[in-house]
Amino acid sequence: MAKIAVVGCGYVGLGTAAVFADLGNQVIGLDVDATRVERLQAGDCPIFEPGLEEILLRNVQAGRLRFTTEYAEALVEAEFAFICVSTPMGPHGGANMRYVRQAARSIGQHLAPGRRTIVVNKSTMPPGSGDLVGALLGEEISQDARYAVVANPEFLREGTAVQDMLHPDRVVLGATDRTAAEAVATLYQPFNAPIVITNLRTAEMIKYAANAFLATRISFINEIAHICEALGADVRQVSQAIGLDKRIGPHFLNAGIGFGGSCFPKDAQALEYMAAVADCYPQLLRAVLDINRAGRRSFVSKLDRMLGGLDGRVIAVWGLAFKPNTDDLREAPALDIIRELISCGAQVKAYDPAAMPNARELLPGIGFCSDPYEAAAGADAVALITEWNEFKGLDLGRVHSLMRRAVLVDGRNLYDPYEMASLGFTYRGVGVPVVEALEGEPEEVEVQQLVSGD
Ligand code: UDX
Repeated sequence: MAKIAVVGCGYVGLGTAAVFADLGNQVIGLDVDATRVERLQAGDCPIFEPGLEEILLRNVQAGRLRFTTEYAEALVEAEFAFICVSTPMGPHGGANMRYVRQAARSIGQHLAPGRRTIVVNKSTMPPGSGDLVGALLGEEISQDARYAVVANPEFLREGTAVQDMLHPDRVVLGATDRTAAEAVATLYQPFNAPIVITNLRTAEMIKYAANAFLATRISFINEIAHICEALGADVRQVSQAIGLDKRIGPHFLNAGIGFGGSCFPKDAQALEYMAAVADCYPQLLRAVLDINRAGRRSFVSKLDRMLGGLDGRVIAVWGLAFKPNTDDLREAPALDIIRELISCGAQVKAYDPAAMPNARELLPGIGFCSDPYEAAAGADAVALITEWNEFKGLDLGRVHSLMRRAVLVDGRNLYDPYEMASLGFTYRGVGVPVVEALEGEPEEVEVQQLVSGD
């Protein structure tokens, strides 16, 4: 069993530390935030991540997982040091490497003498970062400490981080020294996943390419949804049918108001920035980001059209987190949408099962409600932004009876337009047919003449 130090106890670091400890390794997590370390040491998970607290507690109690703020303590025995600090977006869209630099220097200063420590870059870092970390370590080491750098990008999704860590589709390891990559591979052997060994820059690029590709699929289907809406087609069936083609596959084809979160927007922009700096013209990435921004604007315009203006209207917002099963608001569409609604004079009453404590600071001037019914009461419209399971099982008849006007704009296509119409709602999804309330028949949409010669 290995001795592992994990630097940075956020989503990635904690997931990594907890799962490696659960496999029987001796793991020590390091964070510069003393309060966080204290909580972790008591087995109290500071982030909302299903399943993580349980595994954390189990391993802290078993003595396989500890936490510290001291590099000297974390590195004294470590054979592997994982760098899991954040790489936030810099002012021009590129990745800000400040925390990585600090971590690399501190690791370098405390590397144990007389043997080799493998430093593993797990945070998303631009191609070239492995060389940078290697150079910083080289500047800092003293005595006869030796090191190797391995790039091992993570592909964890928030909300399913533990499951993703336990069942990876693949493990990517980049290194200049193949024996170092092979040593890291042994840590992943229990997962039985394919292991791809590359050079450092290729491994780093794989992470950006994977996220950019998934973001592209989402913007692609959102563009198709927009066209569906204009031409009277149903994007849900289009997605389902194209997804049955094995060459396409079904994933990441849910149309909606677009992607948010800590990765897709940041990584797509960072790749665009790196490409532009390298004199490549990243036109597809630019379109992907443009389409994503437009999704938020067109959602507000839809509300505006349906209500005949937003000034003085009361809008119930269901869902704030960037996706379900997280309390994370980073790049959440709800933030832009709510700010726009407020600037147009609307009043906002919001409900989210997990993200309201985080939202209070970011969204002053809106009302927070204890459930979706309270949010809908007296509202002119419901704006559904995050597809929490809780919203699927609501008594929509009750919601209808509570609202001032039964208008529901569904940014995630959670409901069926025909059912909503039969309940008396004026309902709009994203790229789905418009069905008039009570009649249950598709509205006459002005379909562009597509057949030449008619
Ligand atoms: C993502 C990657 O999936 C993960 O591999 C990487 O390590 C980090 O970034 P995450 O940001 O946690 O994970 O969320 P994910 O489930 O991928 O969703 C990202 C965004 O895309 C969300 O805003 C989600 O609502 C949106 N999305 C996803 C869609 O709009 N449609 C889809 O079909 C899928």
